[in-house]
Amino acid sequence: MIISHFPKCVAVFALLALSVGALDTFIAAVYEHAVILPNRTETPVSKEEALLLMNKNIDVLEKAVKLAAKQGAHIIVTPEDGIYGWIFTRESIYPYLEDIPDPGVNWIPCRDPWRFGNTPVQQRLSCLAKDNSIYVVANIGDKKPCNASDSQCPPDGRYQYNTDVVFDSQGKLVARYHKYNLFAPEIQFDFPKDSELVTFDSPFGKFGIFTCFDIFSHDPAVVVVDEFQVDSILYPTAWYNTLPLLSAVPFHSAWAKAMGVNLLAANTHNTSMHMTGSGIYAPEAVKVYHYDMETESGQLLLSELKSRPRREPTYPAAVDWHAYASSVKPFSSEQSDFPGMIYFDEFTFTKLKRNTGNYTACQKDLCCYLTYKMSEKRTDEVYALGAFDGLHTVEGQYYLQICTLLKCQTTDLETCGEPVGSAFTKFEDFSLSGTFGTRYVFPQIILSGSQLAPERHYEISRDGRLRSRSGAPLPVLVMALYGRVFEKDPPRLGQGSGKFQ
Ligand SMILES: *[C@@H]1O[C@H](CO)[C@@H](O)[C@H](O)[C@H]1NC(C)=O
Ligand SMILES: *[C@@H]1O[C@H](CO)[C@@H](O)[C@H](O)[C@H]1NC(C)=O
Ligand SMILES: *[C@@H]1O[C@H](CO)[C@@H](O)[C@H](O)[C@H]1NC(C)=O
Ligand SMILES: *[C@@H]1O[C@H](CO)[C@@H](O)[C@H](O)[C@H]1NC(C)=O
Repeated sequence: MIISHFPKCVAVFALLALSVGALDTFIAAVYEHAVILPNRTETPVSKEEALLLMNKNIDVLEKAVKLAAKQGAHIIVTPEDGIYGWIFTRESIYPYLEDIPDPGVNWIPCRDPWRFGNTPVQQRLSCLAKDNSIYVVANIGDKKPCNASDSQCPPDGRYQYNTDVVFDSQGKLVARYHKYNLFAPEIQFDFPKDSELVTFDSPFGKFGIFTCFDIFSHDPAVVVVDEFQVDSILYPTAWYNTLPLLSAVPFHSAWAKAMGVNLLAANTHNTSMHMTGSGIYAPEAVKVYHYDMETESGQLLLSELKSRPRREPTYPAAVDWHAYASSVKPFSSEQSDFPGMIYFDEFTFTKLKRNTGNYTACQKDLCCYLTYKMSEKRTDEVYALGAFDGLHTVEGQYYLQICTLLKCQTTDLETCGEPVGSAFTKFEDFSLSGTFGTRYVFPQIILSGSQLAPERHYEISRDGRLRSRSGAPLPVLVMALYGRVFEKDPPRLGQGSGKFQ
């Protein structure tokens, strides 16, 4: 049970006298970075070699920071693992780590580089922020010595944390966040003892920060939004896309929409790892996104955002995800159910047999309802409605309730749930809903070619339906209502069983 674990460790950094220069809007930047990776090695390299590699990456980030600042950006987010990559053991990452102090020390590394020992990476990031008068968000590694007086101290006498840092436009360290929900393969880092709820105020709203896999969490992701009422989230990530349901852009933009905050998501770029998909997402609309499986280049994105979206008249109303679905009776039809897997979870599917219809798919407490109309029922494409209600247990443990309509990979029903790239079938009308036992439901629609469905073509009604609205025929690849039931989670998402167990 996670909800009772209310803030044990709260870090709030208020900048004083900000109301004077408060801005109604600001320009956000994110940079998708093709990280220059170190050579794979079990033996740690020297500190000098590690710094050389990190400086190569910071050289690239520096160009992006300068370009963003020149175009008026107030803040730029760079990706998780963006300075040294991800291929490490606990020992081989050590030369890349710096001791990162608590921001309460009030430190501008660019002015006072030796105050906390040898910290060249923090110094350089601070100078980038200061010299370009822009907030810089980066992901680096923190090391903290410990000893036998602490029973959890690792045998090598140190903690190693996956860490986000923020330097303000004066170069001051204003936030430090240790990733709480490590993803299963992150063996180079330690789990912090408690979830840190890191927020800070700026002239352009209140910010929260967390990293990659944290977006599945209650602590800190939901808590910084619901309890701390932040306006915008800074989100460095190294996300590999897994269709049909876990592609970066659709998932992150759905989260921003459902949570009612701006989300500045910067992904790493590596096409062979399927890492691409960065964006700037507002509660009411996707502002800009980038998805590129063709080249190996980085990409800078900029967009103007409202500083305090909650105060806007366009701020989306709360959705009751249970309301509509609980008022309908299961549709009776000649449907037959069959099982199918999506990312190791066994769904209950039913095949759509005609060009129009009403279908129900149920599993445990969740029933999903679909009403739809296709332009034509093609014989070479099969669609299915699926429901899942259960604990996901591979590469992390978290409880899900999902309703999805998707194109099967082939006309063989055994392929329903497997990734597929294009679709010719067009949906003129659809309405998807489910009897969710949670208010955290992330709605997404992906069209043929991994395109996001533009917002003008659909709506989320207050009674919990994902509905078409323009009448324009859409080549739907997958649509989903992805619900998270935090009350049924184990204490830590990241400490599940290993892959394929
Ligand atoms: C990796 O090894 C190759 C061959 O030894 C070398 O040329 C290259 O500079 C190394 N790359 C890094 C990032 O150290
Ligand atoms: C062990 O850690 C404690 C607390 O950090 C510190 O006070 C003490 O000096 C350390 N002892 C040694 C032997 O390093
Ligand atoms: C992408 O990542 C893989 C696996 O970590 C690595 O082997 C490959 O060299 C990377 N590609 C580029 C272009 O850096
Ligand atoms: C689906 O249900 C609606 C309302 O319950 C009904 O008007 C419609 O005729 C049904 N469509 C089909 C194809 O059964």
